[in-house]
Amino acid sequence: MRKPVTADLLRCSIVSILGVGLLAGCEQKREAVVQPASTEAAKPAPVAWPRIASEVKSDPRIEARIADILAKMTLEQKIAQMVQPEIRDVTPEDMRKYHFGSILNGGGAYPGNKRNASVADWVALADRFYAASMDTSLNNVAIPMIWGTDAVHGHNNVIGATLFPHNIALGATRDADLIEKIGEITAKEVSVTGIDWTFAPTLAVVRDDHWGRTYEGYSEDPEIVRNFAGRMVRGLQGAAGTATFLDTSHIVATAKHFIGDGGTDHGVDRGNTAVSEQQLLDIHGQGYITALTAGAQTVMVSYNMWQGLKLHGQQYLLNDVLKQQMGFDGLLVTDWDGIDEVQGCSKDKCPQAINAGIDLFMVPTQWKSFIVNTLEQVNAGDIPVSRIDDAVTRILRVKLRAGLFEKGKPSSRPLSGKRELLGNPAHREVARQAVRESLVLLKNRNNLLPLKRGINVLVAGDGADNIGKQSGGWTITWQGTDTTNAEFPGATSIFAGIRKTVTAAGGTATLSVDGSFTGKPDAAIVVFGENPYAEWHGNIKSLDYQGADGADAALLKKLKDAGIPVVAVFLTGRPLWINPELNASDAFVVAWWPGTEGGGVAEVLFRDEQDAVKQDFVGKLSYSWPRHADQSPLNRNDASYDPLFPYGYGLTYADKATADAADAPIP
Ligand code: BGC
Ligand code: BGC
Repeated sequence: MRKPVTADLLRCSIVSILGVGLLAGCEQKREAVVQPASTEAAKPAPVAWPRIASEVKSDPRIEARIADILAKMTLEQKIAQMVQPEIRDVTPEDMRKYHFGSILNGGGAYPGNKRNASVADWVALADRFYAASMDTSLNNVAIPMIWGTDAVHGHNNVIGATLFPHNIALGATRDADLIEKIGEITAKEVSVTGIDWTFAPTLAVVRDDHWGRTYEGYSEDPEIVRNFAGRMVRGLQGAAGTATFLDTSHIVATAKHFIGDGGTDHGVDRGNTAVSEQQLLDIHGQGYITALTAGAQTVMVSYNMWQGLKLHGQQYLLNDVLKQQMGFDGLLVTDWDGIDEVQGCSKDKCPQAINAGIDLFMVPTQWKSFIVNTLEQVNAGDIPVSRIDDAVTRILRVKLRAGLFEKGKPSSRPLSGKRELLGNPAHREVARQAVRESLVLLKNRNNLLPLKRGINVLVAGDGADNIGKQSGGWTITWQGTDTTNAEFPGATSIFAGIRKTVTAAGGTATLSVDGSFTGKPDAAIVVFGENPYAEWHGNIKSLDYQGADGADAALLKKLKDAGIPVVAVFLTGRPLWINPELNASDAFVVAWWPGTEGGGVAEVLFRDEQDAVKQDFVGKLSYSWPRHADQSPLNRNDASYDPLFPYGYGLTYADKATADAADAPIP
């Protein structure tokens, strides 16, 4: 695993040994040591962060119960309540002994390390951890644990789940009602496995597409993020103030990553976001306004820095802004080993982060020494007991609001173990709708699309029949790589959707990854694009997809030169420079990473039985598309804005005038 801080520190110390002026990123590390130690010491806010009127109201009965529980807890149990180990590094017996507040499964973590774990396996493991958390044989108070998972485009760690298009694709739909439905379905499928909490939605406003997490953001612009955030939270948690709120079909949501994750210089994951405080609010803070209004019960702290200081140590933003000024009364969780990023901290030691206002600590592996160290720090007076009490109060508040004290053991809950709900047809239909609505048509020369159904079509490209590739990162594995189609029972590849459509009308679909053919087809559909990645693994230095002589452009050209009309379907986690591929195709469709329901693509590309348009394109870019490979950052409302396709672009079948797009420049 990468160790960004260590590498940076090394770089910074070399710089200071050489006596060279400060490198970017070095100065702030030094400043991090002198972060204000108390709220009083923090400078007054020059920016007015809005006070959020959460739809989840404070409940005196809950507050009384919290006080009652808190009074019975020892300091040891309180600290353990603030700890979240990962299932690969903790056992139910550890839970019985320590009574952690929470556990998580990271990307690519499954019960018993079995990738093909069944629904029953997930529920059984949840039961074991739950029972251990409720065990009082060590004279502790019984407090149900809460299990968190990254269900970021559906319940993506679980075989057989419905996987939705990634957020970048959802941004193109502009459809907030759909977002809420996706949240509801995700909550149901997570509930089937006995899990209580998802680390979603990501509210990053992505300003530089070099970032490896670009696809996790709905848009480069705060408008869509703001419109979607609250709706996704409502879908996941249920509507606050109604009987559905955090009932047994809903789960706790996380607004993440607070704050400025999408604003780092050059899009470097975990880098520095240098914007002013006003921009932090106006650009990166907008999603939090609606997410917290809808009552998001948890917020995850971001790995990045703001103005040179790691967020995990930023008392001003975490405590003063989020908790005090905005009035967030839920729990703040670290990111995975996020404390390790703070100057002077390590994976198992970070009083700065506790004092900065973080309540729950995702210390996946080093939880044991973290507990020992934190206990010592409290005893030494480095962390006030009042801060510990506040953290535990917030954790208990979320658990009580989520009904965890009443829901009983995971297997006893109504949706638990209902295998038939995972990837069920109604859920997949909503995912297919999301696929249809998220497709963006960039070019349609001679109105090639929509294609007639009964034709003979050649389907080429390495993305055509590859469900892992079409699903992107955070898919079964953390990176989304190394999967096989067999691991997606019930899913449909893009090719399978095309084949079903054309064969039903008497046509044929031939899969040929390299585009070779014997009889000349009526048309070719080439599905290609980025291979999956997650987090910093996806950081890039240039937006160039494959260069002027790339293999996919060559494949497109080969077909075109053979006189075959060519439709390009581009799978991607971000806008890239694809002018060679664009020029070599007659029609060009951006499908993003659509997830398991690849059938949605054919539903738009082909006509209906009567040869009329079946479903028009509605997708519009929520990210600006670059004209040059070095054109990032590139965002709507930039002073000199010159994209190849602007924010909001997306052709429809009615757009005859622009459909015959001019060739794109290749320098
Ligand atoms: C990611 C988070 C994620 C967490 C748990 C981190 O590396 O940044 O988005 O929720 O891991 O898997
Ligand atoms: C986990 C991910 C996590 C990542 C962060 C991986 O091992 O499975 O969930 O986000 O580490 O470093």
